[in-house]
Amino acid sequence: MIRVRDLQVSYGDSVVAHIPELDLAAGQVLGIAGESGSGKSQTALALMGLTRYAGGSVTGSVQLGGVELSTLTNKQWRAVRGRRMAMILQSPRASLNPTITLGALFGRTLKLHGVPRAERQARMEQALVEVVLDPQILSRYPHEVSGGQAQRFAIALVAALRVDVLIADEPTSALDVTVQSEVIDVLRGLRERHGTAIVFISHDLAVIGELADQVMVMRRGEVVEQGPTSQILHEPAQQYTRELLLAVPVIGRTR
Ligand SMILES: Nc1ncnc2c1ncn2[C@@H]1O[C@H](COP(=O)(O)OP(=O)(O)OP(=O)(O)O)[C@@H](O)[C@H]1O
Ligand SMILES: [Mg+2]
Repeated sequence: MIRVRDLQVSYGDSVVAHIPELDLAAGQVLGIAGESGSGKSQTALALMGLTRYAGGSVTGSVQLGGVELSTLTNKQWRAVRGRRMAMILQSPRASLNPTITLGALFGRTLKLHGVPRAERQARMEQALVEVVLDPQILSRYPHEVSGGQAQRFAIALVAALRVDVLIADEPTSALDVTVQSEVIDVLRGLRERHGTAIVFISHDLAVIGELADQVMVMRRGEVVEQGPTSQILHEPAQQYTRELLLAVPVIGRTR
């Protein structure tokens, strides 16, 4: 679904992320780990074609389902974002319009991305069931819901849009531990029900271990190590990965 070759993100002379090679199939989850400033979010921005809006530039190749994205115009990109790829962030409430109800926002978003009117209501209802949210939430404003509810609502939008790829940048980092695992469950459901490929970014390898099939570890814009999750978590080849693992409790592993 996603095929990256020699992707490089720069601001002026400084390279902030360099991904030599990355392949992600439908329904697969890639975890990206690494300390603060390692280039995780810059990688996410580049995959979404948003680097130019932040004032940076990108070289290399990113393909989505065999289509090269790096040469798309802004207009062509708008037909990809929200339809084939979507992104969720650490603080979903911050990206929800505070002046309209979640129901109005849901309807507008589906309309904006070309979901026919006749289908919107059914898609909305089904998506809320999938993320285990009461439909009553649709009458609320963003400030009237919890962080966990807001994140599940954001994932419901993604489910209703039926995108092929979800980029999730630290989606659980602002949540407490119980709520974190609810959101992880909802993401797992999304991948299983819709075959969504997910890029899951977290500085927490334990959280990544719960969801990801493969893991990429980044440091100072470079990929330190990448491979199947069990290998990275249980037999890391790099000292840096071992240090990251020591920083978090990993189930089944003694410090
Ligand atoms: N607009 C910009 N101009 C120049 N450098 C930038 C710009 N935006 C980000 N950077 C640099 O890119 C590097 C990677 O940042 P990025 O946000 O990707 O890190 P991160 O891994 O997501 O960190 P965190 O875990 O804190 O979210 C940082 O060194 C940052 O200073
Ligand atoms: Mg970040």
